[in-house]
Amino acid sequence: MAAHTLSDLYVEELRDLYNAERQILKALPKIIKAASHDDLKEALESHRQQTERHVTRLEQIFEYLGKNAKGKTCHGMEGVLSEGAELIEEGPEAEVLDAGIIAAAQRVEHYEIAAYGSVRTWAEQLGFNDHVELLEQTLDEEKEADQKLTQLATESINEEAAQETEVGRERTVNADRADRRSTSTRSSTRRSPSDKRSRPTA
Ligand SMILES: [Fe+2]
Repeated sequence: MAAHTLSDLYVEELRDLYNAERQILKALPKIIKAASHDDLKEALESHRQQTERHVTRLEQIFEYLGKNAKGKTCHGMEGVLSEGAELIEEGPEAEVLDAGIIAAAQRVEHYEIAAYGSVRTWAEQLGFNDHVELLEQTLDEEKEADQKLTQLATESINEEAAQETEVGRERTVNADRADRRSTSTRSSTRRSPSDKRSRPTA
């Protein structure tokens, strides 16, 4: 359905959000399983439970409107979630993965904060006061979830990821040194790189 009025646009955007919330609900168990830090797992699980309520609130609004909640795919959320899934598949060290999961989860939250902010304002303009209250509750929970993630990142997880990176770098340096030692004994038999270049023909 094309959006001709603010009211049409409002319903379209609510459908987009409804689809986004359901995508998040589907993706979260895998993300929670991939996270290592107990506080991060706990924060994501508590947000998963909140997300179930976000879905219910949107269903309540569609009931008030007498409209169907389904019918739209949120491509924005698909993209954000698929980037998070790619990171998990790449399988970095646990501490680094936790830092990446926070970054991915905050992208999700910021997307939702922007979308709920818009529909809440439109609901006010359209005079849907009973919707405003429900949308405001969800918006507040999204903001709290985002703040909790920032707190986890800055208080512990980013530092642990940086330490893991430091350890990884040391391992690489040591491996490089060992590699140089073993190759230096053979270097006298190697051709110099210039020998590999083709000579000018003119
Ligand atoms: Fe949500």
